[in-house]
Amino acid sequence: MQIGLDGIIVAETCLSEVDGEHGQLIIRGLPIEELAGKASFEAVAARLWQGLSAKEESVEIVTTQLAQVRKEVFELLAPIVPLAAKLPFIEGLRLGLANLSDQTSIPHHYLVTAAIPVFLAALVRAKAELPLIIPDPSLGQAADLLRMMRGARAQREEEEALDAYLVTVAEHGMNASTFTARVIASTGAGVISAVIGAISALKGPLHGGAPGPVLDMLDDIGTSERIDSWLATHLAEGQRLMGFGHRIYRVRDPRADVLKSVVANLRLSSPLGQQQLEFASQVEHAALAALARHKPDRPLHTNVEFYTAMVLDALGLSRELFTPIFAMGRVVGWTAHIFEQLQTGRLIRPQSHYIGPRLSSAKGH
Ligand code: ACO
Repeated sequence: MQIGLDGIIVAETCLSEVDGEHGQLIIRGLPIEELAGKASFEAVAARLWQGLSAKEESVEIVTTQLAQVRKEVFELLAPIVPLAAKLPFIEGLRLGLANLSDQTSIPHHYLVTAAIPVFLAALVRAKAELPLIIPDPSLGQAADLLRMMRGARAQREEEEALDAYLVTVAEHGMNASTFTARVIASTGAGVISAVIGAISALKGPLHGGAPGPVLDMLDDIGTSERIDSWLATHLAEGQRLMGFGHRIYRVRDPRADVLKSVVANLRLSSPLGQQQLEFASQVEHAALAALARHKPDRPLHTNVEFYTAMVLDALGLSRELFTPIFAMGRVVGWTAHIFEQLQTGRLIRPQSHYIGPRLSSAKGH
């Protein structure tokens, strides 16, 4: 028995290969380095969905459909936003998605994918008591999210950076949230329920909830002189360093390097931003050395969340938005896996090994 299902293969997939020994991530035949910053998020969605959903998917169709559905979702916001805006973003997003109906004629993978940026932008505006901004169908998901949040178009390099981020996190094998989505999908509960379940799994700090705490850690360390002592104290207390370690990767997570170059480009024109990046890099090096001393038998390397935090912070997004924006990228991977799961037609139903009392020892209780 494997508690945590380490190393257990639960599905065949044509969507991605995560090679933990060599630090490679292949998305439907292409390394992540060939996609991030080179293909749009919509192109990657089309790549993932192609041949799996009941619809024909091409970059043009996906881009047009998502833009159209963003407008339709905007019409649904009025009753949801006042309540959802009182909650933390991830809970507000969960509430928004829970209000979508299985009965809608909009294809559900488009609905959930388009809904996330529309809900998030609306929640950002509502929390700040600003009027909501209508989606712009001429834009892609990344550019429109920033525009709907800010009320004006972002700089081109900001839009490109967010787009590259969404591509980088779009799909990653049988991680906890994807597995959750496949389990729910296997019961026939539908795409919307499966995606709500996936978001609930993503929210945890051991999965997609780490990037906000990465920045908290950098803030708490504060200065270069404090790095080594801070790390030593926290590791001695048995705390985990956020943004390090991974169940599959035994070497550096390839997505960390992709995002490091994205943030480096974004920070080019800002001396303060460059200083912050330099500090983060110092912490990263010291943390890797400290982890190697702390757990010499367990290779612990930088994971995607460390530089996710840097990219999203450079875009001026609040820490509480980091996990919901991760969901905005990963939703296309989740939905592609949901289609794949449905094609198997098989309920996921493992077993547990009973270790509780047997009838004889239960007597007298
Ligand atoms: N800091 C300190 N120690 C760590 C870390 C870390 N970041 N990661 C693992 N370890 C330690 C564990 O405490 C454990 O020690 P033990 O054997 O004394 O209990 C040992 O290394 C082995 O760790 P596992 O628990 O087997 O690692 P697992 O594969 O379950 O964990 C995980 C992977 C959850 C990502 C872990 O490394 C972690 O908690 N990292 C910090 C949180 C984080 O960055 N999460 C984002 C992950 S990426 C993503 O999901 C998108």
